[in-house]
Formats: sequence, C-alpha cells, structure tokens
Amino acid sequence: MTNGVLAVVVVAIWAMLPAYVPNNVAVIAGGGTPIDGGRSWRGSRLLGDGKTWRGTFLGTAAGIALAIGLSGIEPTASASIGIDLPRFPISAGVTLAAGAMLGDILASFGKRRSGRQRGAPFPVVDQLDFVVAALGLTAIGAPTWFARVFLSPPTVVIAVVIVTPALHVLTNAGAYLLGLKDEPW
Ligand code: CTP
Ligand code: MG
Repeated sequence: MTNGVLAVVVVAIWAMLPAYVPNNVAVIAGGGTPIDGGRSWRGSRLLGDGKTWRGTFLGTAAGIALAIGLSGIEPTASASIGIDLPRFPISAGVTLAAGAMLGDILASFGKRRSGRQRGAPFPVVDQLDFVVAALGLTAIGAPTWFARVFLSPPTVVIAVVIVTPALHVLTNAGAYLLGLKDEPW
C-alpha cells in the first residue's frame, strides 16, 4: 500500500464510506415509529423520537449496499487514481454500516441520560460516536480485514479520526442548508 499522506487519507475515507452514509440516509429516509416506542427511563426518553426503526433499517441497508457497490468498482477506482483501495467483504459492510447506526443510537441514549433534549448538540460525541462504534464492531466482526485496512499502516485509522469530524461538520451543515436537517450538527 502507498504511504503518501494523500493515499492514506483517500484510503481512510473510502474504507469508511459504508459508515458515513447510514446516518445521512436515516436523516432523509427516517421517521415513523421510534425504536424506544416512546418509553422513558428515569424521567427522560430512552432514546427519543429521532431514532426510528425505518431510519435505522434503511440507513444500515444503504451502507451495506454501498459497500457492495464500492467493491464492484474497486479495480477501476484503484487503477484510475493509482491508489490501492480495499474491497469490502460482506462482514465488513455489515459491521461498518450497523456500527455507525449503533454509535448514533448509543449517543442518543447518552444525551437523554445527561438531560440533552432531542437535537441538542453534543460536541465531539456527535462527530465521533458513529466512527468509534463502526471501527469497534468491525474490529470484532471482520478482524483480519480491519487490521489490514486500518492498521497497516496505522496512520489510516489516525486519518479516519482526524478527517471524519471535518467531513461530518461539512455534510451536516450542507444538509441543514438544504433544509434536510433541523440543526446544523
Ligand atoms: N433518524 C432516524 N433514525 C436513526 C437516526 C436518525 O430516523 N437511527 C432521523 C430522525 O428523523 C432524526 C434525524 O434523522 O430526527 C436526524 O438524526 P440525528 O441528528 O441523529 O437525531 P436527532 O433528531 O438530533 O436526535 P438526537 O438528539 O437523539 O440525536
Ligand atoms: Mg442531531
């Protein structure tokens, strides 16, 4: 694998695309019955109306479909940019997509426990919850692939942690300006 900084950043973004897309698809396609069924715990909603079955299911499905699609175009993409991009085994597609949704859901659980209402900002957690859960679930569910893609060289996982918050801020600000999201975070 190439070691240039640009190559590392490109591999990091490519490898995380199946984890980046689910939350955005959930924003566009979500709604309906909340996962917590409206239930509260210790005076606050368990998760809140912002975490729905439809958003979670469609977001996860979109991330998995993207992983399959990216694997299909990988030879062409790698050849055209001259960077050795990874393909996604199904296990990695599932853990990246489901992990991203799970991280977002766990963050909502934490927000409600700390008294933050739906939509309230939770800096750092909002930008990294889905990354930590997607990487963690992938390390467990597709360990060989995880080690090869993110840890050799380990600068890839460092690039993910640095680049993702910036991409997250930009895409959410864009979704807000387009009227898709109620808050710019
Ligand atoms: N969404 C969804 N299901 C999910 C995640 C998101 O349906 N698992 C949809 C909801 O319509 C949600 C919107 O995407 O309102 C924005 O997502 P997000 O910012 O994560 O949720 P918030 O409404 O801000 O709620 P919270 O404070 O719990 O994060
Ligand atoms: Mg929010």
